[in-house]
Amino acid sequence: MNSLDQIVSQARADFLAAPDAAALENAKAVYLGKSGQITELMKSLGKLAPEERKAQGAVINAAKTQIENALTERRDALANAQLQARLNAEAIDVTLPGRGRGVGGIHPVMRTWQRIEEIFRSIGFDVADGPEIENDWTNFTALNSPENHPARSMQDTFYVDGHDSQGNQLLLRTHTSPMQVRYARANQPPIKVIAPGRTYRVDSDATHSPMFHQVEGLWIAENISFADLKGVYLNFVRAFFETDDLQVRFRPSYFPFTEPSAEIDIAFGSGPLKGRWLEVSGSGQVHPSVIRNMGLDPEKYIGFAFGSGLERLTMLRYGVNDLRLFYEGDLRFLKQFN
Ligand code: DAH
Repeated sequence: MNSLDQIVSQARADFLAAPDAAALENAKAVYLGKSGQITELMKSLGKLAPEERKAQGAVINAAKTQIENALTERRDALANAQLQARLNAEAIDVTLPGRGRGVGGIHPVMRTWQRIEEIFRSIGFDVADGPEIENDWTNFTALNSPENHPARSMQDTFYVDGHDSQGNQLLLRTHTSPMQVRYARANQPPIKVIAPGRTYRVDSDATHSPMFHQVEGLWIAENISFADLKGVYLNFVRAFFETDDLQVRFRPSYFPFTEPSAEIDIAFGSGPLKGRWLEVSGSGQVHPSVIRNMGLDPEKYIGFAFGSGLERLTMLRYGVNDLRLFYEGDLRFLKQFN
């Protein structure tokens, strides 16, 4: 049957031309589907005489088997090709070197924080921690900052919607000094404590960041003097900068919560900053009103305090000249410290 042979070879050609399984199924329908060519021929058998029907039926069936075989062959070939493509795509080159794990490092400001804790612990100071969302009483009022003090203005302080249980306005603490009051109200003198932590101000340039770090120091006892504060601070900066060739000077200043108040400056005896007085901290004798707000008798107790910026200390230690570098997360900068 010439035309049957033609159908078979056309089917083979169509199957081979089908690029994927879906196209192959469409091609199959042309021959073996409900009204496919082979199916139609089968249907037409009914019109033939019984003898002829038998002979013709056998021939059509043989053609059908050939088409089915061609179909199966093509299905297998397509499935194999697909598997091969996936294997190629997912190939693992076992000869490549391992990726390894990046090793994290300590941020320079955090390293300063850790070292400060170590240094002060070694001379008997406790380390305390407190809330970054403060209330205006502890952050300002208890520290003797009057209602109209410029530090309390909207331009300098991040206020938070809401009040604490005593009805005090909430804000992001502008310094670590409120920790003086919190700690002294919760502990009995003698008190020797530092409180490092995050602080916030509406400020942003090469030497100011809206979020920065301070460390507060507080020493309350019955018989101490400025000389003790000076001794502690000198010991601290010499340990921190790892040199004894360093001087400290106290320069008169003003803070509402200390009287008298002083800025602490340091000067290195060598190195690139040699001989320059560099401001590193505020300090002073705790104001009698603040001692009272701590729940203590200012006639009996005397306190000395200081507050230093961790970024400032870190910049001086490593010679960094732009504070913003600490917050950009640039590994080229940060890796230098690890
Ligand atoms: N709280 C002050 C500030 O942020 C720094 C300071 C000054 C802290 C004098 C003190 C102090 O404890 O005695 O500028």
